[in-house]
Amino acid sequence: MQAWFARHYGGPEVLRLAQAPIPAIKPDQILVRILATTVNSGDVRVRGCDFPAGTKLMGRLALGWNGPRQPILGTEYAGVVESIGAGVTRFQNGDAVYAFSGLIMRAHAQYAAIAENGPVALLPAGLDFHQASSLCFGGTTALHYLRQAGLKPGDDILVLGASGAVGLALVQLARHRGARVTASTSAANAELVLRHGADRVIDYRSTDIASLPDRFDIVADAVGAMTFIDAQNLLRPEGRYLAIAGALKEMLGSLSKGREGRRMIAGPAAERAEDVVELGRLAAAGHYRPHIDKVFDWSELPAAHAYVETGRKRGSVVVSVGE
Ligand SMILES: NC(=O)c1ccc[n+]([C@@H]2O[C@H](COP(=O)([O-])OP(=O)(O)OC[C@H]3O[C@@H](n4cnc5c(N)ncnc54)[C@H](OP(=O)(O)O)[C@@H]3O)[C@@H](O)[C@H]2O)c1
Repeated sequence: MQAWFARHYGGPEVLRLAQAPIPAIKPDQILVRILATTVNSGDVRVRGCDFPAGTKLMGRLALGWNGPRQPILGTEYAGVVESIGAGVTRFQNGDAVYAFSGLIMRAHAQYAAIAENGPVALLPAGLDFHQASSLCFGGTTALHYLRQAGLKPGDDILVLGASGAVGLALVQLARHRGARVTASTSAANAELVLRHGADRVIDYRSTDIASLPDRFDIVADAVGAMTFIDAQNLLRPEGRYLAIAGALKEMLGSLSKGREGRRMIAGPAAERAEDVVELGRLAAAGHYRPHIDKVFDWSELPAAHAYVETGRKRGSVVVSVGE
């Protein structure tokens, strides 16, 4: 099969298309022929060794010193079951599925193996392969952080960076759970964010968000636009600041409370198979739909990296995986 390899850290030019063996499946695994995958902010961070401040050493120790130890990047995909292991009961050949490989990556390839009880599920009704491939990166992050924040119906949430993959998932999932959603975005993306369920948008380029008179139960910062010190002024007592793009400073800061019980939540989102299934259920019910900004051909995957690296993408960037 073909796969894109990042054997060294660097710009999109380090990516190379090469042959790799089709993964051998274990008795509890299925082999998926990948038809669509995404290039997301996580892929770009790993390829560029661009880990949040203070975590570079940890990142290199965990992921590889001179280049990614696991050089096939890509965290989410959708495709068709090509073959099943001897013990598989939940899937059959020809099933259309989507999956989240997360930190294991390996989605920028023509085939992937995954355990049938892992983060994989049947394609939700009404979604095509491109949309299904984009369900999980932003979606699992949003589910994790909303769970950590204990979001309740009637809460006021401010989403910073609402037009990105994580931001658009936060807007939709918070709205579905009955929160009132205020979102910060540039004027060009206001309509997109309103269409995905925000009650109100604020243009961060013309308004100083930190000086808003409003008070929120949760400030979800998906772009590192604010510090906990500034966020505390926007939070009600006991309010939560979600430092989703946070660095080591935020992870350490999350160990202690701020004024009047306000607290910061930071760190990597959990990767749970049940969240992957839940996202498909929400999508089938019309409560959550990834927005696809651009679709690149398989041969153009480095161009997809370059586009995502601009930091200006809206929602998800899909790569169509050809023969
Ligand atoms: N903790 C975790 O486990 C976890 C998991 C996933 C992602 N992350 C992190 O979360 C961050 C977001 O990821 P993503 O994939 O959603 O990013 P993304 O899709 O690349 O975000 C791009 C969007 O951010 C908007 N934006 C940029 N600066 C902004 C600002 N100051 N205020 C408001 N909007 C702004 C841009 O809109 P404009 O063009 O309008 O500015 C653009 O639409 C990344 O740093 C990523 O590493 C963390």
